Order: sequence, then structure tokens, then C-alpha cells
Amino acid sequence: MMNKKKVFLTRPLHDFALKELKKYYEIEVHSGKIPIPRKKLESKIKEIDGLICFPYDLIDNKLIDKAKKLKVISTFSVGFDHIDTKYAKKNKIRVGYTPEVLTDATADLAFSLMIDIMRRLSEGDRIIRKGDWREIYGAYDYVGTDLQKKTLGILGLGRIGTTLARRAKSFDMKLIYHNRKHISQTKEKFLGVKYVSFEKLLSQSDVISIHVPHTDLTNQLFNRKVLRKMKKTAFLINTARGKIINEKDLLEALKEKTIAGAALDVFESEPISKNHPFTKIQNVTLSPHIGSSTKETRVKMAEITLKNLHLGINGKKPKYSVGY
Ligand code: DGY
Repeated sequence: MMNKKKVFLTRPLHDFALKELKKYYEIEVHSGKIPIPRKKLESKIKEIDGLICFPYDLIDNKLIDKAKKLKVISTFSVGFDHIDTKYAKKNKIRVGYTPEVLTDATADLAFSLMIDIMRRLSEGDRIIRKGDWREIYGAYDYVGTDLQKKTLGILGLGRIGTTLARRAKSFDMKLIYHNRKHISQTKEKFLGVKYVSFEKLLSQSDVISIHVPHTDLTNQLFNRKVLRKMKKTAFLINTARGKIINEKDLLEALKEKTIAGAALDVFESEPISKNHPFTKIQNVTLSPHIGSSTKETRVKMAEITLKNLHLGINGKKPKYSVGY
């Protein structure tokens, strides 16, 4: 009998997925500290045919150099900025990822965060839990901002950005976007969106929602200079990647109220602790990187992660493949 190919997971997936993997492969699942300690991953990668990883696992060129027979890296995420995909390709290692299935869930979260920060929901929850709700219904008490007629600026009108646009349209928001390229005029008309330069997106938006990947071009894009170009009354929403924002500069902008607020699902370094400076200010809503975290979506992501792995380990292009 032929030896089974070896697959390593840097943390557990759903039971159904592990059961399925066991049918075909010799599998090992890391247990213990998350993310997996680098040394352990370095030693495992030498002997495996397939790797299932997560957005916190750094799969860089040094790690890839240690792989002797690796055929595929299948990440349980749409983002793949943690993987040196060019170097993987150079080494004939396929990379699979999980777009499409998490589009609705992530757009829903971006939309929820927008309502939350604009209507001060989480802030209100914190006020009640602290026992600070003493007087009711004053003219100026806990007043938020209407979404209707406000301009939502979408940075990155890909799958998630487009879905957010559809949600926002039904809330009577005005929609502008900035992308590397214009989308077709027919699509613009259908969605009711208008292309603007990045500068205009900054100066015209009442809310900006980030939906671009983290790359060299977007790294720390929202720094002090850029944040200062936003309206004082504007909000910033980030469900993409934390490193797109310079957190120190955002903190300063929120404290000095050069923007009105921010709602963040992703951070420069995750997880953040209860002592993080963001937890000390009121005009920010925080969530623990849950863009794709619904029961339904996570199951679909696991299914695709497996499919990508099966194809890649057998020398075929993954269903959702990065470049090769
Ligand atoms: C991903 O899949 O990359 C997202 O960050 C999940 O929320």
C-alpha cells in the first residue's frame, strides 16, 4: 500500500473537515500555543506534502526554503498577505485561499460596525454596564449620526466592497469609491456608485470603509497625513487588515477628534489586550477579527480550504488559487 501524503494543520478545523482529511492523508494538527511557534512550524514543514494555515501564520521565504516536498499551502482565509506567494510559486508550491464564500459575512460586519460607531451602540452598552446611565432622553444625550444621505467612501470595490455598496444603497447613502481601476459604467450605474480619486474619497466621505488587501502599496496607508485629509466628522471602518492603518496616528486622530470615530475588526498585531490604548477611548468600536465568523461561512471556508488542498496536493490548480 502506498504511504499516505502528510498534511499539517497549524490549528484545528471543524470536526467534519478533520474526518474528511483523515480519509486521504496522514494528518497532524498543532495543539497548544496559537499562532504555532515558529520553530515547530519550521520543523514540520520539512516533512509535509500539504499545509493548512491561518492568517496569523507567517509563511515567508525562509520557511518555504525548509520545505522539501510541499505541494500546496491552503489558507483558511481570503487574505494571503501572510504568505510569500511569489516565492511559493517559484518553488512550484500552489497557494489556495477562500474568497467569495465570506463576502456577505464580511460586508455585513463592515455595515454593522458602521451603524455601531455612527449610532454609538457599543458606547451605550459600555455606559449601561458601568452603571453610568443616570438621566434619560436629553436633547443632546448619546446623539449619533444618521446614515441616510451621508456619503460612504469605499476603498476597494471588489467583492466585499460591492456587497457593502448594495447594503448601503438600501439605507439611502450616497456612494463613492476608489479603486486601482474604474469598474464598468454599467456596473457603476447599477450599483449607484461614483469613482473618485483617493484624495476626493478622503475629503468627501462621511464614512470610509477599507476593502483593499494589505500589500506594500497599502501598508500604513492611513497615516497622520492621510487621516488629516478626512472630514472632522468622518468615521473610518476597517475589516480588511490592521497594517493598512498606522494605529499610533489613528489613536492621535481619535483623541484629538480630527476624525469623529473608527470601528475596527483588524489590528496591526492581534490579538490586542484589554490595555491597548484603543480600549481607553470612547469613539472607537472594536471587534476581534470576526469578518468571516459566522457558522455558515466558516463551514464553507473549511470546505474550500479542503478542496484547494486536495487539488494542490495532487498537482492541480486549487479552486481558488493565488496565481498558479
Ligand atoms: C480573511 O479571511 O482573510 C478575513 O480576515 C477573515 O475575516
